[in-house]
Amino acid sequence: MELAGKHLVLGLTGGIACYKIAELTRLLIKAGATVQIVMTEAATQFITPVTMQALSGRPVYTSQWDARIPNNMPHIDLSREADVLVIAPASTDFLARLAHGRCDDLLSTLCIARGCPLLVVPAMNRQMWQNPATQRNVATIRADGIELLGPDSGSQVCGEVGDGRMIEPEAAFEAIYAFFQPKILRGQRVLITAGPTFEPLDPVRGITNLSSGKMGFALARAAAQAGADVHLVAGPVSLPTPWRVYREDVQTAQQMHDAIMRATPDADIFIAVAAVADWRVDHVNQHKIKKTGDGSMPTFSFVGNPDILASVAELPNPPFCVGFAAESGDLDLNGEEKRKRKGVPLLIGNIGQLTFGRDDNEVVLFEAPGTTPLPRTDKQALARLLIAEIAKRAPKTGGPLLS
Ligand code: CTP
Repeated sequence: MELAGKHLVLGLTGGIACYKIAELTRLLIKAGATVQIVMTEAATQFITPVTMQALSGRPVYTSQWDARIPNNMPHIDLSREADVLVIAPASTDFLARLAHGRCDDLLSTLCIARGCPLLVVPAMNRQMWQNPATQRNVATIRADGIELLGPDSGSQVCGEVGDGRMIEPEAAFEAIYAFFQPKILRGQRVLITAGPTFEPLDPVRGITNLSSGKMGFALARAAAQAGADVHLVAGPVSLPTPWRVYREDVQTAQQMHDAIMRATPDADIFIAVAAVADWRVDHVNQHKIKKTGDGSMPTFSFVGNPDILASVAELPNPPFCVGFAAESGDLDLNGEEKRKRKGVPLLIGNIGQLTFGRDDNEVVLFEAPGTTPLPRTDKQALARLLIAEIAKRAPKTGGPLLS
């Protein structure tokens, strides 16, 4: 339960994107948060308080004059209980009211009276978003230290295409979840490899492995949530790109190596999670290899692939390098031997062979002073633990942000 113990006030204002808030509420509740819905009068035209009450499991507040709060001060009481106040969707009109500090309904009054941080998720037509008045209001809101999540760009319900649509509920959830994570990697630039590589034999066949990419993607997500600028170089996997992560897709070990060597000068931390193929065929057939009439089998000769982690570690000014090792034999012996061979300060050894494709994992940290075992846990929680361990060890840099 990623948000257990967290209490949110989720305020809806008038806009067609209100339909996305049903899903956002469900995601927040599923993650263990408690959610108090507050709606403007206009929001109730787009989605009913009945729907939002059923999804949140709590009475919905729409009026400043609601007598259900004992002291009759919902604008004070509701925000004092909250860890964060989220306005989603935030309409053009609501941004204007927020920028001017208006208190003309319960939700706007709550924003002014709040004792907690405020996150704003705008949603509107592209012309309304681009309008200089809206942009002035957005600048004022940002200058007041309020964080805006989005908007997104793309096709809009009105049929037009451009900036202004609300970010998807999953992205809003990720941003809210990230808000609660300590920013232990703020300003750090993290480069990660993930997934398998695919070494072609001919146009339709190749050699790959069972790495799902889940651990590398979970680390990219956790690093981004910890405030890092994350560049993820991924082999062929079918996983969604984590929120705020820059992703570059590659296929072969050589392509992964080249992408990493291009990106390394901008990295403070390099985490090599990919299961990189050690060999490739020295000659890839241009055409599909056909069966021969006499039953003879094809033969292949192999050449070695570059060792990406070792290549980065031996650079004159390497980033803080972290390796992974999936060993089937004696982990204690092989882990430390591999850490030294790769020339890295930290190597994370998987216990057991069954990590590929699984949702959980158990690891041991290898470093010069000795080993540290971490408890078996799901890959998302483990990723947060590992990012905390890496943040403790990586030198602090005040490098410029990539984005
Ligand atoms: N690695 C890499 N480039 C390679 C091979 C491995 O960057 N060509 C990285 C992996 O991403 C991992 C670490 O090196 O972080 C260890 O990978 P592993 O496959 O366990 O080690 P190998 O060097 O391939 O050794 P072996 O397969 O013989 O155990």
